[in-house]
Amino acid sequence: MSSVILVVDDDPANCELLECLLRDSGYEVVVASDGRRSLDEFTRSRPDLVLLDVQIPYPNGFEVCRQIKCHPDSWLVPVILITGLAATEDRVHGLEVGADDFLIKPVERSELLARVRSLLSRKAFTDELERAESVLFTLALSIEGKDPYTGSHCERLSDLSASLGHRIGLRTDEITALRRAGTVHDIGKVAVPDSILLKPGKLTPEEFRIIQQHPVVGERICAPLKSFRLVLPIIRHHHEKLDGTGYPDGLRGNNIPLTARVLQIVDVYDALTTDRPYRRALSIADALKTMEGEVRKGWWDPDVFDEFQEMQALTTEFQPEKLKTSRQADGHSVRMTSVGRTGE
Ligand SMILES: [Fe+2]
Repeated sequence: MSSVILVVDDDPANCELLECLLRDSGYEVVVASDGRRSLDEFTRSRPDLVLLDVQIPYPNGFEVCRQIKCHPDSWLVPVILITGLAATEDRVHGLEVGADDFLIKPVERSELLARVRSLLSRKAFTDELERAESVLFTLALSIEGKDPYTGSHCERLSDLSASLGHRIGLRTDEITALRRAGTVHDIGKVAVPDSILLKPGKLTPEEFRIIQQHPVVGERICAPLKSFRLVLPIIRHHHEKLDGTGYPDGLRGNNIPLTARVLQIVDVYDALTTDRPYRRALSIADALKTMEGEVRKGWWDPDVFDEFQEMQALTTEFQPEKLKTSRQADGHSVRMTSVGRTGE
């Protein structure tokens, strides 16, 4: 299947020239003559590359490029800006709005084709990576689907742990890793037989030993994906406990990666507030009370848990006693904390 290229130029003669050149080279071409139409055409035809004249009617090429590059669904689509202006400041502006390459008018045929080929091969590579990610997500969701009681556990886990990560000041790439981990953290359960995974009663020691391998298997499944570098420690350590009694490595305290400590708080909370075969879902207050006891036992990170409680108080009806008292005392609704990071 040939690649689709969107050509945007308000000069019909230029447009036709580029269109003929690209069609003769085997590409499928769609065209637009102004900024607004180019964005509509982009949404409709989902091109593999955009050749974008800077000086087009509203919005101009810089703005069109910015809009393409700020959207998570389209930022990997290469954009070549075509400009009659060789000024450095235009190149700088182009780079600021995310352009991948530049061509100066009049466009030289062989240079244009060389740049198009190069950017399209990079795009094919990133498409391949995206396909690999989506295979993993599909596998993870199909494992989740085996258990009728978990509902949309992965989706809730992704959203809540990303919000908690944001609240405690994690970096953007760590928050992205939490989002991905929310979906794939239990992917290693693919190696656990259904007879154990869905067993309603107590597990035997041998069955529990098999379950304990799922973070290790999950890490191994996702390891080949470089874009999952920050997701791997979350997958491996989401069942560790601060006092060292967790699995698979029995890590203690801050040796457990902070991102994993965030995910496990949300994971436990979601499990407690969801119906299970052996008990009804707990209320928010009861779930947090149960977790408070587990924090006292030395299982979960107390600072991350405090932040989680306060976040829930802002987004639900729940008002923790501790928070009510501290609000009365200091008059603040949000407490700023520094949560301990791994090895820091
Ligand atoms: Fe797990």
